[in-house]
Amino acid sequence: LTMEPSEEFLIQHKGIYFQPHLVTPEYIDLLEDFEIRDSDVFVVTFPKSGTVWTQNILSLIYHEGHRDGTENVQIADRVPWLEYNIHNIDYVHRPSPRLFATHLPYYLVPRDLRNRRAKVIYVARNPKDVVVSYFHFSSLSVLLETIPDFNIFLERFLAGKVLAGSWFNHIRGWYTHKDDFNILFLTYEEMKKDLRGTVLKICRFLGKLLNEKELDTVVENATFDKMKTDPRANYNSMEGKLLERGKGHFLRKGTVGDWKNTMTVAQSERFDNVFNEKMKDLSSKFTWDI
Ligand code: A3P
Repeated sequence: LTMEPSEEFLIQHKGIYFQPHLVTPEYIDLLEDFEIRDSDVFVVTFPKSGTVWTQNILSLIYHEGHRDGTENVQIADRVPWLEYNIHNIDYVHRPSPRLFATHLPYYLVPRDLRNRRAKVIYVARNPKDVVVSYFHFSSLSVLLETIPDFNIFLERFLAGKVLAGSWFNHIRGWYTHKDDFNILFLTYEEMKKDLRGTVLKICRFLGKLLNEKELDTVVENATFDKMKTDPRANYNSMEGKLLERGKGHFLRKGTVGDWKNTMTVAQSERFDNVFNEKMKDLSSKFTWDI
């Protein structure tokens, strides 16, 4: 096992890494011309930053109150991946409002998004928790290379040699170009600290006014414990296709600061050095206690 990712699991294209079994470079290029509707909503994240959590919140806000036959539909179908269309959904003819999730960097998303059409919700998470969550997920996912040695995974992460590329470039790109988009920035940590407040913030951004009872329902169904037992939200149905049976759960711990249980002092210092070097000018914008 070396620093270089195996081509069986990762292909490099336009500065980042994709999963070759799920997408081709040509498809990624075509997405730039994907036609946007004003009512579209995109959840944008670097992997392991709370994507599914936010997908679930959106799905609860948009669908749950209405009971329009989507009760038993999986999150991955309610808020599908833009670049990984694993269920072959017809995105072009999908009824509005279309909800999508994506890990793409700002420069590869549909061009029209930059005209501030449609809404973008960006969720960021303390990168030390991201790398630890990602490490565990890599051995759980059948589509990613299992890397048993955390130190090697850490080095690949810091070098941007993981699916979706460099965490540093991802957040820098989206943050410094935020004025080009109609964007709401959130953090995993604020969602943990004040889920209700964050759901309210999302509702305001989307112009969806829920009554108290509806809001309670969204918050209740978006907690970690509730999602863990919700078959539409916990990804258990992905076993075999995306996740390896019996290797653990997609909803693993759902906590802030779990990196302290995995990283050694030396690894944490190594991370800090790279973080400080790459994020020098931006570090004051992100208030993680790392
Ligand atoms: P951990 O591995 O630290 O537990 P993504 O969806 O972007 O892949 O992110 C996955 C991470 O989000 C996992 O982190 C998962 O447990 C966490 N997560 C998912 N739903 C959550 C919830 N309702 N509350 C807290 N964390 C949640």
